[in-house]
Amino acid sequence: MNKSPKKVETSLEYLRKLFIMPDSPDKFIEFGNDLLEMLHDFFQEKGGIHSSITLPELSEIFNQTAVPDSPDLIKDVLSEIKTKVIRHSVKVGNPYYIGHMTSAIPYFMILLEMIIAALNQNQVKIETAKASSFVERELVAWLHRLVFNRTDRFYEKNIQNPRIALGNVTTDGTLANMTALLVAREKAFPPDGKFPGLRMVGVDRALRHYGYDRGVIIVSERGHYSIKKAANLLGIGEDNVLNINVDDNNRIDIKKLRRKVNSLGQGKGGNRTKIIAIVGIAGTTETGSVDNLQELGETAREVGAHFHVDACWGGSALLVDGYRPLFRGIEEADSVTIDAHKLLYCPMTMGIVLFRNEKDLQFIRHSTQYVIRRNSVDTGRFTFEGSRPFACLKPWAALKVIGREGYGLLFRQANKTTDNLKKLLDSCDNFETLTISELFILTYRFIPGTVREQLLAWKGVESSSRDMEGAKESRQKIKKVNHLINGLNIKLHKALRRDDTTFVSRTTLESTRYRPQNIVVLRAVLINPLTDKQILKEIVDTQNRIGLKIWHEFEAAYRRMVT
Ligand SMILES: Cc1ncc(COP(=O)(O)O)c(C=O)c1O
Repeated sequence: MNKSPKKVETSLEYLRKLFIMPDSPDKFIEFGNDLLEMLHDFFQEKGGIHSSITLPELSEIFNQTAVPDSPDLIKDVLSEIKTKVIRHSVKVGNPYYIGHMTSAIPYFMILLEMIIAALNQNQVKIETAKASSFVERELVAWLHRLVFNRTDRFYEKNIQNPRIALGNVTTDGTLANMTALLVAREKAFPPDGKFPGLRMVGVDRALRHYGYDRGVIIVSERGHYSIKKAANLLGIGEDNVLNINVDDNNRIDIKKLRRKVNSLGQGKGGNRTKIIAIVGIAGTTETGSVDNLQELGETAREVGAHFHVDACWGGSALLVDGYRPLFRGIEEADSVTIDAHKLLYCPMTMGIVLFRNEKDLQFIRHSTQYVIRRNSVDTGRFTFEGSRPFACLKPWAALKVIGREGYGLLFRQANKTTDNLKKLLDSCDNFETLTISELFILTYRFIPGTVREQLLAWKGVESSSRDMEGAKESRQKIKKVNHLINGLNIKLHKALRRDDTTFVSRTTLESTRYRPQNIVVLRAVLINPLTDKQILKEIVDTQNRIGLKIWHEFEAAYRRMVT
C-alpha cells in the first residue's frame, strides 16, 4: 500500500525556504546527498535495461488529471521520483545497451549539471550570464578552430569579440541545422537595392524579386530529418529538400548530385531554381558514413549555394588528427554543426553551429529595447533561440578533463569495439554485416548461414548475363527470401526488447548489396568504453540464441521458397 504523502501547510515562509539563499545551503546539501545516493543505486541495480513495466502500466501511474494543489514535502517528491521515474528509466549507460547515440556519460557531468542549475545563467544576455558568456565564446572558438583552422591572428582577434559570432550554441543538433539553413536562406536572398531581403518580406516576394520559381536544399537520402523540419519552418517546403541517392558506402553519389544540379536549370529562363544549400553529412545517423565533402564543397561553390556540413554525429572526431582525412573538405564549408551530447560524451543536450565567415550570423542579427540592445555585447543578438542554459559548461569542462588525447583514446576504443563486434558476427555464421563505418556504427542482420549462402548463389546467377530467365527467377527468389528475413529480424528485435538484457536499434536501408530492396537491419552504436569484448560476445550469443529460436517459425516458409 502506498502511504499518501504528508501535505505541507502552504505558507510564504515555507516557500521562501525552498529558494537558494545564503542561509539555506544545509538543506540542499542534505537532499543533494540523498539524491546522489539514489542515482547511485539506479546505476548499481541489476536487471533489465528498460524495466519490465509496460507502457499501459506507466499510463496508470501518470494519470492524475488535475494540477497538484497543495505542496508535498521535497523528500516525498524525491521518493516518488525514485519509485515512479528513476526505476523505470532506460539505462542508456549500460554497456549492454549499444543501440543509440545516446549512451554512457562520465560521472563528473552530473556535477556540472548541478553547477549549471545552481547558477541558472541565461546565456541570452550579459546581464544574466557574465563569465559564462566568455566560456561560451571560448568553446565556440575552440571548435571553430578545430573545423576551419583559420590563423592564430583570426582567433586572437575574434575569440572574445562581441561584435561578431563565430557560431551559436544551440539546444540540439536540430536547432543547429535549422540555424545554419536559416543563414543560408538569408544569404540566398539578401537585400538588393530597394529590396530589403527575404527576412523582411518573406519567401514569395524574395523568389519573385530574384526571378526564381523555387528554392531547394540538396542532401543525400541519408540526411537527418531535421533538414526537412528546417525546410518546413523556413518556408522552403519539405518537398524542396531534394534527396540524392547514396553509393554502396552510404555516401552521397556525386555523379547523381551533379546530374541533379545540372537538371535544375539554374540561370535559364522559365523553370529557375535557386539552390539555397547543399548539405554534406559527416556521420550519417543510420550508418555513420561521411560524404565526400571536398566534391560537395566544389559543387556548392560552382552553383553559388551555401555549403553546410551536418557533423552532429561525427564532428567531434576532428579532435583526433587521425580522423582528419575522413573529413577532408570540411574546412571549406560555410557552416558546420556538431552535437556535444553525441561524441563529446555530454549529457542531453547541446548542439553547436559554426560559420567559417565570422560575419554570416549578421544575417539573422536581432535587437530589442529591453535586452540584446543594438550596441550591447549580448550573445542573444546572434541566436535564433532566446533564453538558453549554460550548457556549454559541459563540453568546455569535458575538453579540459578528457582533453584531445583522452578523446583520442575513447575513439580508438570505440573503433576497436566496432571491429570486435564485426569479427564476432562474421565468425558466428548466422549474421550478415551490411555496413560498417569509421564512426562506430555497424548494421547487420540475423540470417542463418545456409540462407545467406543460398542468397549469394542466386546473386551469382542474377549477375550472369548469359541466362536472362535464370537471372530473373533468381532476382525474384532473392526478393522473397529477403522479405522473409526482414520479418524475422523485426520479430527478433521485438524479442530482444522483451528479453531486455541487451539492446540494439533497428532501421531499414535501401542501400545494401540487395539494393534497391529495403533490408531490415539491426544497428549498433559502439561508443560506450565499458562495452568490452566479453559483453559483445554475450550480446551476439543472445541474439543468435533468440534468432535461431524464431527461425524455426520461418524455416518451413523458406523451404517452400527454395524448392
Ligand atoms: C546526423 C545528425 N544530424 C542531426 C541530428 C539531430 O540532432 P538532435 O537529436 O540533437 O536534434 C542527429 C541526431 O541523431 C544526427 O544524427
